[in-house]
Amino acid sequence: MRARLVVLVSGEGTNLQALIDACADEGYGADVVAVGADREGIAGLARAARAGIPTFTRRVKDYSSRADWDTALAESCAAHHADLVILAGFMKLVGPRFLDRFGGRCLNTHPALLPSFPGMHGVRDALGYGVKVTGCTVFIVDPGIDAGPVVAQRAVLVQDDDDEAALHERIKVAERALLVETVGRMVREGWSVHGRKVRIGN
Ligand code: GRF
Repeated sequence: MRARLVVLVSGEGTNLQALIDACADEGYGADVVAVGADREGIAGLARAARAGIPTFTRRVKDYSSRADWDTALAESCAAHHADLVILAGFMKLVGPRFLDRFGGRCLNTHPALLPSFPGMHGVRDALGYGVKVTGCTVFIVDPGIDAGPVVAQRAVLVQDDDDEAALHERIKVAERALLVETVGRMVREGWSVHGRKVRIGN
């Protein structure tokens, strides 16, 4: 049984593309069955359309409350029978109603080594702090901001002449590889969460 992935995006969608490409391999063990977004007109949705993957868009402003949006987002993922929901550059926090349904099987990727530099500007904040090593983190989404149990991390060295864009591009190379590798292992081997510790495989 191949796992059904629903990927949520807000922008360029290069992490999504990496997952789509990985799923083309028979042995990967998963398929991207739908792509959701919180806005129209983004490259991520175009990538899904090019790959023939169904898309849906749920904009917060189209709902009378954040809770209603959260419910609609969860229902859309459920309608595609998602085994795993992957936030890949999705710039919204999912809420309690979403987590009631997908808690423990919703992953996010962050461009810093959590718990350092959570939030919207992880790359800028790491650079501003002057760290010499940063990286990326794949974690299980919980109600906090970039606070859930860590599944996998990869380090990226900061170079003296890095600006935010250059560093982010290098992190994203590592991030795509880490996300593909981590999701693949999770769907093929299973996983368990013990407090803050995530173990892939038995
Ligand atoms: C990634 O670095 C992600 O961690 C961050 O935004 C970037 C999204 O890149 N939140 P893309 O849309 O997958 O190209």
